[in-house]
Amino acid sequence: MDTRYNPHPRELLVPLCQPPALALDLAPGAPEIRGPIAALCGELGRILARPPESIVPTACGRAALAVGLRALALADTDGRDEVVVPSFACPQVIEAVLDAGLRPVLCDLAPDRPVPDLPAFAAATGERSLAIVAASVLRAKIELEALDAWARARGICVIDDAAQAFDGRGSTDDPRGPAASRGSLGVLSFGRHKPICAGAGGALVIHDASLAPLVERARAELDARWRQTSLAGDARRRPWFTDVREALEHPPAAPARADMDPTTATRVLARLGEGHELDAARRVSAELADALPACARPRPHDPALPQLYFAVEVEPAHRHALATQLAAAGVESSWLYLPLHHSSRYRPYARGPVPEADALWPKLLLLPTRGWLTPSQRRRVVGALASLSIPGPATREAQP
Ligand SMILES: Cc1ncc(COP(=O)(O)O)c(C=O)c1O
Repeated sequence: MDTRYNPHPRELLVPLCQPPALALDLAPGAPEIRGPIAALCGELGRILARPPESIVPTACGRAALAVGLRALALADTDGRDEVVVPSFACPQVIEAVLDAGLRPVLCDLAPDRPVPDLPAFAAATGERSLAIVAASVLRAKIELEALDAWARARGICVIDDAAQAFDGRGSTDDPRGPAASRGSLGVLSFGRHKPICAGAGGALVIHDASLAPLVERARAELDARWRQTSLAGDARRRPWFTDVREALEHPPAAPARADMDPTTATRVLARLGEGHELDAARRVSAELADALPACARPRPHDPALPQLYFAVEVEPAHRHALATQLAAAGVESSWLYLPLHHSSRYRPYARGPVPEADALWPKLLLLPTRGWLTPSQRRRVVGALASLSIPGPATREAQP
């Protein structure tokens, strides 16, 4: 398996994620919104049809997930400590389980989809299962209604992790309801690469009101621990890696605190008020799809979900060479996600083989498609895609 990172363009002309500046960044003298945290709770509550007190703004999505999981552990009287998470996910998800003092159990994906289905989740559950983290990623939605009914019948809590699915809309046209609206708790993120891209911030959405006091206890507990760690300067600095497997051995640092700061809340509110880039992203994707050469096929996706990347499928042996051609044209690409069980840090949490994630990862190549790309950036990606060519035997790169 070729685990090299995709090469970064020497001259980065089309980044995967470069949101336009916010008006408040451009006008430093602009008055701050009064009570931005309370205003954000009100706005998110309105969008998600929840009371404002059910929204807990956090420093990031990982903090929201860790606080939610810790609250579930405090609520549990049977000492259950296992949390099922997809092996095909960003490391912040599994780190949140560890932050909460719980034991992750890695599960596989549905066949040829970037998210697990019910059989994949069920295979990873057992008597010690406390919760399932249902993270809808790469524009694929987990069927939460069926999963939640199945899990509730077994006393297992589902967390609707909508870090990549919440686009600021109540999604009235989707019968499955808004993102983050199912299960016992919902998780939002406003960090980099997310649909509402404020650079930081997250939120926990409490669906089961009886959990609220335990969420507050968990939040205070984790906040104290994270502040102490960050004051002690224990946050690990990550070196620069060229290999994604090696990077996974070095986990991202824990958040510096649990709570969202008012400036971040102001930024999130501003992004929510901007309108949606979704329609523009759809048009970019249609242009890219038209330009695809035979060596790259578009991946299936759920059109109701926001588009963070244009995902194509390529021959695994060609992926790095194709990414190199894109980088030479100034176009950034990504390889998300090397399944977590490929690192020695997370391997102990896989109970058995994870064949679907292993088969999917090597053929995925993700390209820029956000709605804020300029016409010249779009032309650049289209041109780079149209001129991709499969490396010949003489030029094909050796597999490490
Ligand atoms: C599905 C999912 N959940 C949670 C997170 C963590 O969010 P944050 O980066 O804001 O901590 C991420 C981050 O990429 C994610 O993709």
